[in-house]
Amino acid sequence: MNLRDDFPIFKHRPELTYFDNAATAQRPQSVLDAEQKFYTTYNSNIHRGPNFLAEEATIQYEDARRKVADFVGARQKHEIIFTKNATEAINLVARTFGETLQAQDVILLSKMEHHSNIVPWLQLAERKDLEIKWMGISTDWRVRLDPALFDKRVKLVAVTGMSNVLGTITDLKPIIKAAHAVGAKVLVDASQLAVHEPISVRDLDVDFLVLTGHKLYGPTGIGALYGKEELLNPLPPFMDGGDMISAVFMDRFIPAGLPQKFEAGTPNIAGAIGFGAAVDYMAKLGFKKIQKMENELTSTLLTKLTKLDYIKIVGPETLDHRGSVVSFTMQGVHPHDVADGLSSKGICIRAGFHCAQPLMDHLKMSGTARMSLSFYNTKEEIDKAMGVLEEIYSYFTK
Ligand code: ALA
Repeated sequence: MNLRDDFPIFKHRPELTYFDNAATAQRPQSVLDAEQKFYTTYNSNIHRGPNFLAEEATIQYEDARRKVADFVGARQKHEIIFTKNATEAINLVARTFGETLQAQDVILLSKMEHHSNIVPWLQLAERKDLEIKWMGISTDWRVRLDPALFDKRVKLVAVTGMSNVLGTITDLKPIIKAAHAVGAKVLVDASQLAVHEPISVRDLDVDFLVLTGHKLYGPTGIGALYGKEELLNPLPPFMDGGDMISAVFMDRFIPAGLPQKFEAGTPNIAGAIGFGAAVDYMAKLGFKKIQKMENELTSTLLTKLTKLDYIKIVGPETLDHRGSVVSFTMQGVHPHDVADGLSSKGICIRAGFHCAQPLMDHLKMSGTARMSLSFYNTKEEIDKAMGVLEEIYSYFTK
């Protein structure tokens, strides 16, 4: 069976060519079924009622946590905190671990971070009088490890595992080693990376790592924070309310242990269960197969784009250290016009800053067009897009 058949949207929209997978992926039927099964057969709140339905929902929710923990190679399932997305997971770390930092401490970011891995740190730096420093970009479009930046003042390095614009994959291990050597902790934004590469938080020895469900073929409104148990344990709660406590008195409360301490209120139960099903889907397919299919498509796309002299790829032109996210510009045509032209022929891409304005400033660019591929895309779709790109260029420049 064709993998595309697993994704009902392509049956409902046969004309659709979807090259905007880095913004959000499509969902397989198994994810939709898992959410529907929750709502139709065991809908109940979790961790609360001593009744059979609540118990069933709790078991499934906690099983999803175990699946996500296994997906990233966490030692313990309670090292996974469900959040609404990667942004919330980063904010959780900024509002808890971040509050332990002292004036003049340094947070190291890279110039290719998504705004969600910049703005929480800018806000924290303002609150706590911290300094933000920036890792640059190497000639092969990757985060550059500049040893001079790593000194005892650095307390946190927050870095992407894969650029959502350039498609390049960060060489994380040397960065994590350099950070640990000066006593700093490391947060990896794996929103894009986790879709294309297997991750082992233990092998990386990373301190915090964030994921978002909807890019991993799961539902929107669900994400996860991985944190080492010994780092999460002493941190204060992030949000306060029900389910994050072990006892409440009229003058104080005692927070729950991990992971409940960080999951105040009724969570996105269906979303977490759907996230678990998405992770199952990826595990069943396997990264070997995913990478083989995506690499073939990306290589085809890169080869075809480099043949067009009016297209400039913004990122590596080969498969070295890159995933299936490909940014480019078209000479004399605004990226939004490129996206509009493709959209008029049923092809979805993203165009603009891609929530990475500091990267655009660094590159002295006002935006790119971005095609991001998934294993369910086809070479025929790439050919179709190439034809439309030629039409767009002719229309605007001839
Ligand atoms: N962060 C997502 C993207 O790069 C939305 O498109």
